[in-house]
Amino acid sequence: MTNPSIPIIAIDGPSGVGKGTLAQFLCEHYGFHLLDSGAIYRTLAYGVTHSDLDVENEDAIVSLARQLPVSFEGGQVYYGEQVITSAIRTETVAAVASQIAAIQPVREALLQRQRDFAKPPGLVADGRDMGTVVFADAPVKLFLTASAEERAKRRVIQLKNQGVDANIAQITWDIEQRDARDRSRVSSPLIPAQDAVEIDTTALSIDEVCQQAIRLCDRSGIQPA
Ligand code: DC
Repeated sequence: MTNPSIPIIAIDGPSGVGKGTLAQFLCEHYGFHLLDSGAIYRTLAYGVTHSDLDVENEDAIVSLARQLPVSFEGGQVYYGEQVITSAIRTETVAAVASQIAAIQPVREALLQRQRDFAKPPGLVADGRDMGTVVFADAPVKLFLTASAEERAKRRVIQLKNQGVDANIAQITWDIEQRDARDRSRVSSPLIPAQDAVEIDTTALSIDEVCQQAIRLCDRSGIQPA
């Protein structure tokens, strides 16, 4: 149970649906804090890879998760003193993150760290289990979806903008694999909370998604700080 006086907007959904963009927008609109929970799992994946830990070595991964030296400052993600903002955005890190996120004790080790982001005046929490587990009592729960083809297309554009050459067939395959694993895992699978409102973003512009979300938040009494 989190402090009910702190308004929380939970945004869940698979990769590439526009959760990050919507979360940023809502943070600015309402003046709230942001939790990018995927970045925490990605940072753990980064730590696992860079410490040469075997992804099967659950005990060592849980132990790292318990004392993960992750911090967020000025839009940057830090692993200890090291800036890893771009390094955690690779497909390789995403794949390892999805694998280790299926380990229940890892999720437990990261639970309180995520809840600690709930501070006045409010929080926008972006992830896979924000509305079902981490902030199960959030007053607003949005679940974003989009077709795998559309999500792959968006990812390719994002990578091209970063100067990275991308193969759409490979990206679609990676997205489908990751989604299948996130949806079918036993611990906190990627599913909408019963009281979540689903928004299919396939044919919507970013602006349309943001406006729809604002209407839902306003209806729930969320007010700018
Ligand atoms: O949102 P993202 O693509 O940055 O997340 C990377 C991986 O982390 C994703 O495949 C699943 C995992 N994840 C999770 O299991 N639970 C969350 N709340 C957020 C991310």
